[in-house]
Amino acid sequence: MKIINIKKDNDFEKLNECANALKNGDLVIFPTETVYGIGANALMSDSVDNIFKAKGRANDNPLIVHISDKNKIKDVAYIINDIEQSLINKFMPGPFTLILKKKDCIPNNVSANLDTVGVRIPTNKVARELLIKANVPVAAPSANVSSRPSGTNIDDIKEEFNNKVEYIIDNGDSDIGIESTVVKVIDKIPVILRPGKVTAEDIIKHIGSVKIDEHVFTKANGVVLSPGMKYKHYAPNCKSLMLYCEDNQELIKLINEYKTHKTIVIGCSENKDKINTFKYYDYGKKDDFDSIAHNIFKLLRKTNEEDCDLVIIEGVKKEGFGISIMNRLIRSVNYNYIEKSNN
Ligand code: TXA
Ligand code: MG
Repeated sequence: MKIINIKKDNDFEKLNECANALKNGDLVIFPTETVYGIGANALMSDSVDNIFKAKGRANDNPLIVHISDKNKIKDVAYIINDIEQSLINKFMPGPFTLILKKKDCIPNNVSANLDTVGVRIPTNKVARELLIKANVPVAAPSANVSSRPSGTNIDDIKEEFNNKVEYIIDNGDSDIGIESTVVKVIDKIPVILRPGKVTAEDIIKHIGSVKIDEHVFTKANGVVLSPGMKYKHYAPNCKSLMLYCEDNQELIKLINEYKTHKTIVIGCSENKDKINTFKYYDYGKKDDFDSIAHNIFKLLRKTNEEDCDLVIIEGVKKEGFGISIMNRLIRSVNYNYIEKSNN
């Protein structure tokens, strides 16, 4: 296994060997603006199988296919209606995945036997350069062992995938920090299967309509639109609980009620000195959703380094990008949460 460091744009030559390896069937971990991905040539089903093995991922959970630009969508999928085209024009490239009707060249293990495939064009320059050089579609889920938080920095990733992949491309911490918005157009309405940086408001503004799939906040079993919703996700090793009150004084009171003598609280900068606990991990200012998203997976992982008996995470207001953060937090505590609003 080789680690390739790319911190400047003129380091792109170093990507040649990674792109060749990827094209020829090896696994390569690469950065995107959302989280790191563990990639394989999407046209080679054996290589794709190796992703499932390396992650310990259930094979009924489909992978997203990454391409370098819009002209390549037709190589992997069909664009069937105007709404799909309009979403592509507006949100791609970006932190956005569109579920489209799959073409036959994409093996069935990529799509977990569905007749659709998720397509994404990352904006991260290293990702795009790698995809251009490899010149094949790249299947890539988030770079984490299944059920753990998605990999957003190289230290966490190295620990989980040491010698399980051929290359790890280090491009620093992921910018956004949580995964892309996943959308499927059903009956001409964009349905958000997984919320991300592109929000429901962004889609409404552009298309005029949007639905949020019911499983974004509720536990899913059996057949669901997005199979990933069924599985345990983003979890710290020890017991965890998420608390949210619109009123901050009430939130502090609630945290004090639940905390044990070895509780780690992951919460906002404003509350750092107001809560007396074993450890307090600051995820950023209360209303700075970009900072919270950027930090959350790293902090969830960091709790595993401590000998604690409970992790309490402060929730955020469920609006805009906050919806996406709450979707991840609710899963990370395995639906063990209390949420109180003022009305
Ligand atoms: O930001 C991201 O999307 C990252 C980076 C690496 O691109 N990738 C990522 O992949 O988060 P993954 O595999 O961890 O999550 C993909 C999600 C899963 O919940 C999966 O069930 C859903 O997308 N998905 C993929 N293909 C689908 C399909 N054909 N139909 C419905 N849901 C699909
Ligand atoms: Mg994932």
